Amino acid sequence: MKTTSAIPLCFLLLIFLSTTTNAHNITHILAKNPEFSTFNHYLTLTHLAGEINRRQTITVCAVDNAAMSALIAKGLSLVTIKNVLSLHVFADYFGSKKLHEVTKGSTSTATMYQATGEAPGTTGYVHITDVKGGKVRFTPEDNPTQTDVVYVKSILEMPYNISVIQISEILQSPEAEAPTSAPDLNLTSLLQRDGCKAFYNLLSTSGAIGTFLSTVDGGVTVFCPSATAVAAFAPKYKNLTAEEKTSVLLYHGVPTYNSMGMLRSSNGLMNTLATEGANKYDFTVKNDGEDVKLKTKVVTAAVTGTVIDEEPVALYKIDKVLLPRELFKGTVEADEPAPAPKGAKKKKKGAKEDDDADSPASDSSDDDDSDDVADQKASSGERLASSAVMAACLLLAFI
Ligand SMILES: *[C@@H]1O[C@H](CO)[C@@H](O)[C@H](O)[C@H]1NC(C)=O
Ligand SMILES: *[C@@H]1O[C@H](CO)[C@@H](O)[C@H](O)[C@H]1NC(C)=O
Ligand SMILES: *[C@@H]1O[C@H](CO)[C@@H](O)[C@H](O)[C@H]1NC(C)=O
Ligand SMILES: *[C@@H]1O[C@H](CO)[C@@H](O)[C@H](O)[C@H]1NC(C)=O
Repeated sequence: MKTTSAIPLCFLLLIFLSTTTNAHNITHILAKNPEFSTFNHYLTLTHLAGEINRRQTITVCAVDNAAMSALIAKGLSLVTIKNVLSLHVFADYFGSKKLHEVTKGSTSTATMYQATGEAPGTTGYVHITDVKGGKVRFTPEDNPTQTDVVYVKSILEMPYNISVIQISEILQSPEAEAPTSAPDLNLTSLLQRDGCKAFYNLLSTSGAIGTFLSTVDGGVTVFCPSATAVAAFAPKYKNLTAEEKTSVLLYHGVPTYNSMGMLRSSNGLMNTLATEGANKYDFTVKNDGEDVKLKTKVVTAAVTGTVIDEEPVALYKIDKVLLPRELFKGTVEADEPAPAPKGAKKKKKGAKEDDDADSPASDSSDDDDSDDVADQKASSGERLASSAVMAACLLLAFI
């Protein structure tokens, strides 16, 4: 008796241990229910799935295939469908219990549509009302007369990270359904915008642009140095062989999409388009609050702006050319315009980084290595813990 009741607990523990290391995956969650296959398919097509997976404290309101058919029959463009579906993702956690206990019977919540900045005013809000008879009704802010959208059931609750619920119908918002033009994701034209023209010219004349363009579909992040930075780098660049020039340029591209949010919450090594094999042509992302810095061990560049951040393309402006240690080992940053006044204002940590940049052989690399070791220890610790539970479960099963 004892053992049989302990076994389910073991599996719960195991599941818990494996979910703490992995974030949620909405595609995977919905894949278990064929009745939501169309909704699931469109979350992938619109790239909303990735955005949902990156967020925490979120509620996804899924609709069944019949309700999705009604939406598709409207013949909206994919960008517009994305707006409509993003209205179905709440930026707050609503489990079944919380839905049935909304304060004073009514509340409103911001959605991912509101967060995109596409929604004018507060049109990206949805009202949640606990109506008589235990029903919970959802109403889009800009369509108060819609009353047919009610809570059906809970699909998954992972407090307080993600709640996936089924609602009866698509929320109809005139604003979300309004025709929208697709964002310009043409990297060639994006690179010619704002401050990226000088960098674009290098990519274009060297032919490196081809590698960037062929990466776009699978996701790409490009860091484009300012015109001033490119000009300051010109004498060094001229000295490089054609192959080295290409490597430096490819070093400014990362073959995955990284939103600003992801950059701000990640510290660690990033492989680049120039990376071939382990530990080559990579750099470290360091963030300090809202500031994102890229450290190559030769130079530390700061992200100064966003040209586009729309999956699968992210293009950011940086204040320095990224110098890979493979090509510039031992060189100092002295011939680049020294950011003396800015550097002087910086707090201690910033000053240390500048010192590191001037002496690439300094102990900065030790810091990075010890971070890596700590990370590995943490994950092997989790593995150990889950193996221990697994062993205990097996033991119990055989008693
Ligand atoms: C929610 O996410 C956090 C951070 O990723 C994690 O530590 C926590 O275990 C998650 N909760 C559940 C129930 O999965
Ligand atoms: C999420 O789950 C789907 C289906 O199980 C899988 O194909 C996909 O690779 C997963 N995504 C991530 C980021 O793990
Ligand atoms: C991207 O933009 C460039 C320059 O603006 C243009 O020549 C090219 O045809 C565009 N590519 C696509 C696929 O639209
Ligand atoms: C370019 O190379 C020449 C010859 O090796 C060297 O004298 C010069 O200092 C280099 N210029 C720069 C900016 O590195």
